[in-house]
Amino acid sequence: MRIIKRGFIREDKEAPPSENPVPARGARIITITSGKGGVGKTNITVNLAIALAQAGRRVIIFDADLGLANVDVLLGVTPRRTLYDHLYRDVSIENILFPGPGGISIISGGSGFLELANLTAKQRSNLVKNLEKLDRMADIVLIDTGAGISKDVLAFCAAADEVILVITPEPTSLADAYGLIKVLDRFNLHREVHFIVNQVRSYGESNETVYRMNHLVDKYLTIRLNYLGDICYDQTIVSSVKQQSPFILASPTSRAALAVKKIAFSLIDKKWMVEEESGLKGFISKLSRLFR
Ligand SMILES: Nc1ncnc2c1ncn2[C@@H]1O[C@H](COP(=O)(O)OP(=O)(O)OP(=O)(O)O)[C@@H](O)[C@H]1O
Ligand SMILES: [Mg+2]
Repeated sequence: MRIIKRGFIREDKEAPPSENPVPARGARIITITSGKGGVGKTNITVNLAIALAQAGRRVIIFDADLGLANVDVLLGVTPRRTLYDHLYRDVSIENILFPGPGGISIISGGSGFLELANLTAKQRSNLVKNLEKLDRMADIVLIDTGAGISKDVLAFCAAADEVILVITPEPTSLADAYGLIKVLDRFNLHREVHFIVNQVRSYGESNETVYRMNHLVDKYLTIRLNYLGDICYDQTIVSSVKQQSPFILASPTSRAALAVKKIAFSLIDKKWMVEEESGLKGFISKLSRLFR
């Protein structure tokens, strides 16, 4: 059963496999972010996207890092066209979609996101129409953002259906993550935020980090946390970055790859709220209002 109406709950587990018809209300939009920089967001986005594709989902990565976009660097592909080209250079939406490894596709936001605020009514309605096409082409869209509590990152969190926060066991990462969760809580943007603990060096360290995060949030905030899983510190990741080859493909049996696959299944199993404005179309409409 898949009820798609405001306030109802949808289960991706029951989503049709790729070859079947697409959800009526568009793709599931998930923003991946962190309080502190360099914690592993881009690596997780890319490898999680491939793991979800391996589980039969059609996945698009939207590279929304307005500073240094590096999804392409990690994948060793060069999307020469960005959202900006679609908005201002008449490049079709299909032509800014680049095939990546493992069956995923990538769209580079570039400066296009900032331009969303400046669109005319006609440009906006054209964009929305074109995004409907993309919504029919994807089950899940992962948005890779920069770190921190900037207006842009908050807008990407606000506009998405769901947020995944990446943290590491370092006290600075925990403190910055808590700062970001506090802002999300204050603005009442989401009832729940998922989190992943990355670069853990022992089972104890992972447990301790999950406990501390849950404890802090339970004690002081209304928002709920949903722990998706942890990823160990794994040298495989460091070498895969150097080789520009996602570790889930280069070393599919490494501990990091197995951990990401487990996280992909946690995400697929998770029920999520369907908003009035969902899918990529809803995401971009909300963003253009938030950036204004
Ligand atoms: N689990 C891990 N084990 C070992 N090294 C890791 C792991 N996760 C990330 N790294 C290392 O951390 C570096 C930064 O990762 P990544 O670029 O994914 O972080 P980020 O959060 O996207 O950074 P930014 O905030 O700059 O966008 C990687 O190049 C990699 O070397
Ligand atoms: Mg990054």
